[in-house]
Amino acid sequence: MKAVILAGGTGSRLMPLTKLLNKHLLPVGRLPMISYGIQKLKEAGVTEILLVTSRQAAGAFIQFLGSGREAGVSLTYRIQEEAGGIAQALELARPFVGSNRKFMVLLGDNLFEEKLGPHIEAFEQQPAGAMVLLKEVPDPERYGVPVFDAEGAILKIEEKPKQPANNWCVTGIYCFDDQVFEYIASIEPSQRGELEITDVNNAYAGRGMLEYSYMHGWWTDAGTFESLQEAALKLAGPMP
Ligand code: G1P
Repeated sequence: MKAVILAGGTGSRLMPLTKLLNKHLLPVGRLPMISYGIQKLKEAGVTEILLVTSRQAAGAFIQFLGSGREAGVSLTYRIQEEAGGIAQALELARPFVGSNRKFMVLLGDNLFEEKLGPHIEAFEQQPAGAMVLLKEVPDPERYGVPVFDAEGAILKIEEKPKQPANNWCVTGIYCFDDQVFEYIASIEPSQRGELEITDVNNAYAGRGMLEYSYMHGWWTDAGTFESLQEAALKLAGPMP
């Protein structure tokens, strides 16, 4: 399976740190943030990785990661010219995914403990559709929150709801089939002018094609000062 890591964006919640450095290159423990997602994919046997980042940051990523050889992976890069949302960045992965029917996507600021392998295996068993990973959090209003039907299937996802339906968060770890590109083409920009990944996931959910799996280990998104600090504490140990 191939994977895409989305590492663009302006990192506005981490200004002024992100004035100089792309969020995903900020240090977390002993490594730049981006290294952890790459390690998790490699550990799960996923070594063909596309990194989508901004024009401004691409040089620094290439300088740090190069071809991916040192990390034991094969890296391809694509540039998102303007920050237009996660789904817009994902659209750039279409040629990379090519005729591979299934692939996975990581938001580069999602840091987590558990192995991806079992989740990837679960998705491999799924005939078609998408799969999201859910984590129970104390502050679901910061995230995408799933709404379940009586049978426990995801009816829809609400993005940053003021009154969350429950305490589950849709993490930034997604598995998609190639239908995703049709759904991206069909969605409209949200009120904040971005193509939202939640609208893409809702296109699957509306067709009963959005499965889920639970994350049991710790998970954090490292996109704010508090969560960055939390992640740094969790990952402060010896070099993995
Ligand atoms: C994005 C998604 C959100 C998801 C979160 C996970 O939010 O839109 O649904 O829960 O990532 O990290 P953002 O961090 O871009 O606000």
